[in-house]
Amino acid sequence: MKVIEIEGNRKLEGTIRISGAKNATVALIPAAILTDEEATICNVPEITDTDALCDILKELNVKVNRSTESVVINPREMINKEIEEQFSKKLRASYYFMGALLGKYKKAEMYFPGGCSIGARPIDLHLKGFEALGATVRNENNKYIVEAKELKGANIYLDIASVGATINIMLAAVKAKGTTIIDNAAKEPEIVNVATFLNNMGANITGAGTSTIKIKGVEHLHQCFHEVIPDRIEAGTYIIIGALCGHPLKVDNVIPEHVDSLLSKLEEMRIGLEIGADYVTIIDNNEKLVATNIKTAVYPGFPTDLQQPFTVLLTQANGKSKVTETIWENRFMHIPYLKALGANIEVKNQTATIIGPTPLKGEEVIATDLRAGAAMVAAALIAEGKTTITNAEHILRGYEQIVEKLTAVGAKITIKEI
Ligand code: EPZ
Repeated sequence: MKVIEIEGNRKLEGTIRISGAKNATVALIPAAILTDEEATICNVPEITDTDALCDILKELNVKVNRSTESVVINPREMINKEIEEQFSKKLRASYYFMGALLGKYKKAEMYFPGGCSIGARPIDLHLKGFEALGATVRNENNKYIVEAKELKGANIYLDIASVGATINIMLAAVKAKGTTIIDNAAKEPEIVNVATFLNNMGANITGAGTSTIKIKGVEHLHQCFHEVIPDRIEAGTYIIIGALCGHPLKVDNVIPEHVDSLLSKLEEMRIGLEIGADYVTIIDNNEKLVATNIKTAVYPGFPTDLQQPFTVLLTQANGKSKVTETIWENRFMHIPYLKALGANIEVKNQTATIIGPTPLKGEEVIATDLRAGAAMVAAALIAEGKTTITNAEHILRGYEQIVEKLTAVGAKITIKEI
């Protein structure tokens, strides 16, 4: 097991460069098998989720050539076979192979993990979309067999603007006969990045980034070159860390509009920001931080993936703040550990109420999930003394070189295997 140790209460100064978006990458790598030729993707973050997906590609006899922050994927000799549980259970996003294999071969066979820690994480909307395209879905002891004689374009309404379902249906529909319309589609920037990738291959997708996406089926998808967008959640996490202890901290390679909701909240809290074309610098947080409320929502609302690190900032704000989580039913597992560090937080139903400011003191804490782990890092950086974060593997799934990036701006942070 990996453990991160942090000596806190230090000011961080300098520049942190943001890597490619995890939540785009985990869709782009499965989507790459749709080409009949070769796909080159650059700005790929070197995180364990990328490794896990490349392992699945190799299982399917896909040629994978990785170099620094890029991957060349050649599926010419791939074999469509069952994806075993040992591979698919490493990350939820392995489910994108369902849509990609269905879209390419009209058949997908894979084991699929149960709910993840932040909620039940059902995939009923994904499966409803596949069925609307003409596929049948069977589930035999958690192994899904999805197959179709023919995939035909359909009008699909998503009851929830699901990121995963929107992308998975796009993958299944790109080579279907006729036109597919996805209504109430999710609008996250990662969806636009995937649609652009597919269009670079020769697909015909319009409307990505709006709530109505149109996919006109095509016969052939050719080779292409593509770049992963910067990770808005990694960026938001470091911007929050800058607000906590930047002096000043520049977060570079950012698309500011992708973190608009966060930046507005920080300005509401009277945190001094300099927002450039592709960076955000936290200039000062000398003023007393003003308490505020957030309610997570689908893009462009406040992202659920930032509510956990943002809660740490609210522990330092003057007064009462509220965090309401509307996307996941179990995304407050970081709260007990923040309280152990000294925070004053109470949770009732889907709302956490934070009274600040409270000084934080180093403790032994656990990373219960990826973004809870990010919250532990943020808290540890301002806590007095040493904090030890176990289960740090969770953090490495979504934050490329987090130890190196924080060390470079003055943090005392180490990681070890125990
Ligand atoms: C993506 O998950 C992200 N993961 C999540 O980030 C993020 O929290 C989430 O979108 C919301 O923004 C990836 O992109 C790999 P959803 P996804 O389908 O696609 C319900 C992180 O920390 N739902 O938009 O799984 C679901 O239960 C991760 O990087 C159904 O009911 O999220 C949830 O309540 C965590 N049926 C809501 O919709 C379905 O078939 C939104 O889920 C699908 C989803």
